[in-house]
Amino acid sequence: MTELRSRRWFADEDKPGFVGRSWLKNQGLPDHVFDGRPVIGICNTWSELTPCNGHFRVLAEFVRRGVYEAGGLPLEFPAMSLGESLMRPTTMLYRNLASMEIEETIRGNPLDGVVLLTGCDKTTPACLMGAASVDLPTIVVNGGPMLNGKFRGRDIGSGTDVWRLSDDLRVGRISMEDYQDAESCMSRSDGHCMTMGTASTMACMVEALGLTLPGAAAIPAADSRRRRLAHLSGGRIVEMVREDLRMSQILTRPALENAIRVNAAVGGSTNFVVHLLAIAGRLDLPLELDDFDRLGSKMPLLVNLMPSGDYLMEDFFYAGGLPVVIRQLKDSLHMDAPTVNGGTLAENTANAENFNREVIADLDEPFQRGAGLSILRGNLCPDGAVIKPSAASPALQQHRGRAVVFEDIDDYHTRIDDPDLDVAPDSVLVLKQVGPRGFPGMPEVGNFNLPKKLLLQGVEDMVRISDGRMSGTAFGAVVLHVAPESALGGALALVRNGDEIELDVPARRLQLLVSDEELQRRRQVWQPRPVESLRGYSKLYVEHVEQADRGADFDFLRGGSGAEVVHSGH
Ligand code: FES
Repeated sequence: MTELRSRRWFADEDKPGFVGRSWLKNQGLPDHVFDGRPVIGICNTWSELTPCNGHFRVLAEFVRRGVYEAGGLPLEFPAMSLGESLMRPTTMLYRNLASMEIEETIRGNPLDGVVLLTGCDKTTPACLMGAASVDLPTIVVNGGPMLNGKFRGRDIGSGTDVWRLSDDLRVGRISMEDYQDAESCMSRSDGHCMTMGTASTMACMVEALGLTLPGAAAIPAADSRRRRLAHLSGGRIVEMVREDLRMSQILTRPALENAIRVNAAVGGSTNFVVHLLAIAGRLDLPLELDDFDRLGSKMPLLVNLMPSGDYLMEDFFYAGGLPVVIRQLKDSLHMDAPTVNGGTLAENTANAENFNREVIADLDEPFQRGAGLSILRGNLCPDGAVIKPSAASPALQQHRGRAVVFEDIDDYHTRIDDPDLDVAPDSVLVLKQVGPRGFPGMPEVGNFNLPKKLLLQGVEDMVRISDGRMSGTAFGAVVLHVAPESALGGALALVRNGDEIELDVPARRLQLLVSDEELQRRRQVWQPRPVESLRGYSKLYVEHVEQADRGADFDFLRGGSGAEVVHSGH
């Protein structure tokens, strides 16, 4: 074992060593814990403001047990928590900030290895981005999904059924009393959203990347096996430090390719794209937007979970979970990829068994063929846009319609339910100013509700286009992440009411059917909106955030800084 970096703090016999040891002793630590054992940071994104991570203090205790048992010293630290359900204007604005906090906390302290406690959507990429920038031995313990929602005899899914129920309420299909009753029926246990939303997508992503113990993604938060997993992960991270098995040895280009293919097979969220691009960027790994289409779009959909399907994460766990999917995809994956437990993907999934073919399909009878995310190009999105065909109405995937334009989210809210809104079922709804810079923060508004008057006619889906994101729990013919964004004068900024737009998902095309000359004329008179007077973090964000096709990370965070601390102030 190479010398532990924590020894630079605790082996010092002079004043800095005295300070490091003495102050920790005020926590009741005896002398012998400074004997050269691995020091493990437990990065805890617990917060009462992040209900999805509300059980993490308990989970951290189980990690701690495992670390002690394996002969390590656990030191838990809090990290900025990003709660999707409460935080405004959008947690995406703060993903990069949280990652920076985590990076600097890991590097600046006497840690030899790290356990990342992740759950609610952005807590996973923020933790991975921060930890990858330092590159110590790292293992992820995700918090697990909630139990299935149960409402009047049927299962309801986080998010996905919120969209359905809110449309039902708007057009009077259900009463306010029923709507409120559904609130407590939907979220009835610890854990994150139990659809294949962004949190579950991220959990599958980290398992496919090899950064969790096998089978971690789907274990419900309320199941005792979640706590066992935390305990075992605590033990394993100590061994990883002894083996010097660092994050960059697991998070490699083949691992990224595996994650993209697995994401397609589970029907994962479109948010996967911006987060994986940002994570890869921290290790300077090559990854392009088109890789998601090239590697993923031909993959079969094997998992029947909302929003693309019918079931929920608890069902996925009982059916066998992600190891079953990985095993079935073995001919498409790099099965020799190493993982945190020391085994390869092949070794970890060799005995995986499918217990429910309604939830996990066999490879020769998938729920859908060619189900991965599609990357669109065209004059409306020269740097790309994303659509999730498995969640979109098939009839709308080749569609031409007249644009109905909303200049920003306030304009949308003001006019969407106006009975005089000039809109038809075949219109294409366009929303501007919701990109990384324009909003700022690229919120999840891309799946915006349809006009009430069309809902009342029974219209269930329409083509919607924006430079924003969509909740992973949502569905619809929704084109997202248009780059360059409208706030930068991308072609989206030039769209006017009545313009024809053509979406052709099979051809990967999104075209504004306006002549180049006319677009040039419009571009010459286009004016950027005056930037609001921003200060502090928002100012930093707007000045440095990259476009969606680069992962919406900060331009100065590409590549890591490693674990070295150059100077000591002690
Ligand atoms: Fe936290 Fe959905 S709100 S995972």
